[in-house]
Amino acid sequence: SPPLRILGIETSCDETAASVVERDADGRGRILGDVVLSQMEEHSAYGGVVPEIAARAHVDALDTLIEEALLRAGVTLNDIDAIAATSGPGLIGGLLVGLMTGKAIARASGKPLYAINHLEGHALTARLTDNLAFPYLMLLVSGGHTQLVLIKGIGDYARWGTTIDDALGEAFDKTAKLLGLPYPGGPAVERAARTGNPDRFVFPRPLVGEARLDFSFSGLKTAVRQVAQSIEPVTEQDVCDICASFQTAISRTLKDRIGRGLSRFKAEFSGQAASPVLVVAGGVAANQVLRSTLQQLCDSNGFRFLAPPLDLCTDNAAMIAWAGAERMAAGLPADGLEVAPRSRWP
Ligand code: KG4
Ligand code: ZN
Repeated sequence: SPPLRILGIETSCDETAASVVERDADGRGRILGDVVLSQMEEHSAYGGVVPEIAARAHVDALDTLIEEALLRAGVTLNDIDAIAATSGPGLIGGLLVGLMTGKAIARASGKPLYAINHLEGHALTARLTDNLAFPYLMLLVSGGHTQLVLIKGIGDYARWGTTIDDALGEAFDKTAKLLGLPYPGGPAVERAARTGNPDRFVFPRPLVGEARLDFSFSGLKTAVRQVAQSIEPVTEQDVCDICASFQTAISRTLKDRIGRGLSRFKAEFSGQAASPVLVVAGGVAANQVLRSTLQQLCDSNGFRFLAPPLDLCTDNAAMIAWAGAERMAAGLPADGLEVAPRSRWP
């Protein structure tokens, strides 16, 4: 059978994105055209994403981006088999823009619409980039999510762990803000940490040692605040030391939490998954300390560590198109035009 070609739309947070992705009969994926417009500049003055500004920016950009994705792919709407649009979880204004646009195109072109869970997009990306077989484990670490998920099949996911308070990216962003570093905080904290002493401060490592696989990061930011307040005045070197020590705490925490997840995976799938795989996704995957921590952890547990290219770890529409292609190929039903966006959708 001929390859499927899907148009994907992503508007759940502060990236407006459109993409055309192909999936052949053997399950191999190829990105034909992919465009992402970051709204970072619109939001940076506010130190975070402003939902109203985000929704308006999606309206301004989306139709042009869809045209651009089709153009780069060298196809027209006639060549597309289905439309896939993120319908949750995320900021409701942005979701409305993307999903309604997807519905309009589906209605006008007579093609099926797949309403995609953004997290499913992240979960299946490794099959687009590496043709990965089920089952595998995914660690999603972004500004909004921190989850360890078992990926068993299309639409068959089990959340093994999640954050009980802040997401990991959020912890980076809030810590940066406390220390007077710019937004987004993750890259700023990582940069400062490079010349810092990673052992100067001992920050809390919440839930370490506990059997359940959840995460907690809000105590970390409180500890950073207390340390910063206890030093007067806080020098540039102090900031670097705090950032480096903050990353040490995160590294140790992840080693314990994810280490338990790897053991559980091995226990449940011994014999089934010839070489078990841990995939990372989300913006925090850019962090080198996190990467080397996960790499070491995988090495010592007999896992392969897979980090897709960074532009596919962060929010994009190729992963949404791909999730639509996977659903369609698996024979899952398309969604009706009455489908509604969901700001919360585990
Ligand atoms: O996946 P993403 O681009 O967007 C959403 O959260 O939707 O992730 C953004 C998050 C932000 O919290 C940012 O501070 C964090 O990823 N981040 C990093 C790094 N680069 C981005 N955190 C730690 N180290 C980095 N190098
Ligand atoms: Zn995301």
